[in-house]
Amino acid sequence: MSHVEDDTDNTRRDFLYYATAGAGVVTVGAAVWPLVNQMNPSADVQALSQIFVDVDGLEQGMQLTVNFLGKPVFIRRRTDEEIALARENDGASLVDTESRNPNKPGTDAADVNRTMDDAGEWLVMIGVCTHLGCVPLGNGAGDFGGWFCPCHGSHYDSAGRIRRGPAPENMHIPLAEFVDETTIQLG
Ligand code: FES
Repeated sequence: MSHVEDDTDNTRRDFLYYATAGAGVVTVGAAVWPLVNQMNPSADVQALSQIFVDVDGLEQGMQLTVNFLGKPVFIRRRTDEEIALARENDGASLVDTESRNPNKPGTDAADVNRTMDDAGEWLVMIGVCTHLGCVPLGNGAGDFGGWFCPCHGSHYDSAGRIRRGPAPENMHIPLAEFVDETTIQLG
């Protein structure tokens, strides 16, 4: 199978999972916090700026893509191999040495600073190439076992760090936290 066919399959798989899982599991903040201060001018904005994603059933090696603030967010539960590969690459010469993770501000790009959990299973990223904004292909695409942006050839590793190509920064990470065992809050 060629690289292109492989990437096409990956994209289709990502989309199918999103299509089947996304509608039922994503809720906006407004449903959870119906009482908002009427004096707060940003109530509508706040409702839209937080979503809750049910990741129950997302197994290792699967990726869920949700739309958050108009951008795709990749929620990937990485395999042991992806974690090991990312941590091996901590010692590589990285293009961008910052974690780009507002949940761990000021940290370097070590794999553990990119993931939600110390074990490194949960990687949540804004799925936008930092070159000119295309959506990279996933599921091990590219030369570093992570994501590949076909627009101009940027390769990201399994931690979402830029490794080759014109993109200047690692894929950015949104504000995110687990609010219970199977629910991630974005925003
Ligand atoms: S937009 Fe991704 S490489 Fe240019």
